[in-house]
Amino acid sequence: MLTQEANRRATEVGPGTPMGNLMRRYWHPIAASAELDDEPLRTKSVRLLGEDLTLFRTQRGGLGLVEKHCAHRRADLAYGIAEDDGLRCQYHGWKYSTTGQCIEAPFEDTMHPDGALKSTVKLTAYPVQELGGLIFAYLGPEPVPLVPRWSPLVAENAVRDIAISVLPCNWLQCQENSLDPVHVEWLHNHYGNYVRRLKAHENRQDNVGVRNVQNHRKIGFDLFEYGIIKRRVFAGFTEEDDDWKIGHPILFPNILLVGSEVSATLQFRVPVDDTHTLHISNYTFNARPGTQAPRQARVPYRHVPLYDERNRYIVDLTFNQDYSVWMSQGPIARRDLERLGESDKGVAMFRLLLEREMAAVARGEDPMNVFRDPETNECLEPPLEQTKFGHTERSARYFAAEAGVSSAVAEIEQTLGTWVTQAEPVRAR
Ligand code: FES
Ligand SMILES: [Fe+2]
Repeated sequence: MLTQEANRRATEVGPGTPMGNLMRRYWHPIAASAELDDEPLRTKSVRLLGEDLTLFRTQRGGLGLVEKHCAHRRADLAYGIAEDDGLRCQYHGWKYSTTGQCIEAPFEDTMHPDGALKSTVKLTAYPVQELGGLIFAYLGPEPVPLVPRWSPLVAENAVRDIAISVLPCNWLQCQENSLDPVHVEWLHNHYGNYVRRLKAHENRQDNVGVRNVQNHRKIGFDLFEYGIIKRRVFAGFTEEDDDWKIGHPILFPNILLVGSEVSATLQFRVPVDDTHTLHISNYTFNARPGTQAPRQARVPYRHVPLYDERNRYIVDLTFNQDYSVWMSQGPIARRDLERLGESDKGVAMFRLLLEREMAAVARGEDPMNVFRDPETNECLEPPLEQTKFGHTERSARYFAAEAGVSSAVAEIEQTLGTWVTQAEPVRAR
């Protein structure tokens, strides 16, 4: 349980708030690169940490992220004209470079050939960079740190797929879920099976694909270099198994890394504002060493639906089960009313870590996972379950199935085929 005040501190991300200050020390993905390329205007409205912005790509390929409204009379720049060297406002033609500097104000330039007006006009602009098929933005103070090169983002012999959702709830609900191993047994096993049985009954199907229920016998959490390692022992397993021995990592402050050497998913829980989260899953499928993954001209992306035709949460797919419970906790979960138990000790540990790192930022220090040394940042490799072949194959299939609606299905299937001798086709659904 948190006091109302502590809950506000942990969830409010606007400028000047303690969590807003902490979150501004990190690069956040704001779009898939291909998503911007598909926009006819080559612009995208972005809301990040409570700030309204316009992302654009110039005709020469430069990226800019500037405030949403034109400095002149406040037209929405997401409807502007992306030109060679900047973004031109559609209303009276003022043009801004990727740094936000006004470089043309046509009628004013005619009246004042010395450019007196435009030289004093500059929009707030933030740095943007691309990595692993994503566009990242940094809204914090200078000096600007490096974009963290988490290993799946920089894997070269791999294919990728990106899944995007905007959830109507605070980011912390999504991230706390990753510190809560026991929910897997209930939400994904018992409840998932219940929903699948109901659905099969409704569709008059006899064949119900239910999951084995994995009973938790023990859970544990450790701080490590990049965040917290989550460990569990399922019934029938021991502390010698990878789930306990290696565990899997939560990357501070808002990323989950799950997978194996075959495939890994980075899940970014990006705070749009206090009550919305941009959830981006970046799937990476690696080719078996010595084999070659197909070349991807671009990393495809897709928007994951949250609601069914009855306007109820979709609850029969694993990730949707997670989304549904995060949303069901409300726009900002009332942590002042919750009753925590033994299963929540990872959540409690994470909240303390957030407090510790907010305090570090208040002292003017870099918080955890801010990287400035290019050598260290070359490839950041948190531990992942490098498991025996059977398990790796299973987890790869699992991620492939989740990615089954992607336009990268053929590429994923081909890449997994390099690992799995008798690969079942990855079916689209
Ligand atoms: S409002 Fe943008 S140029 Fe006038
Ligand atoms: Fe989950």
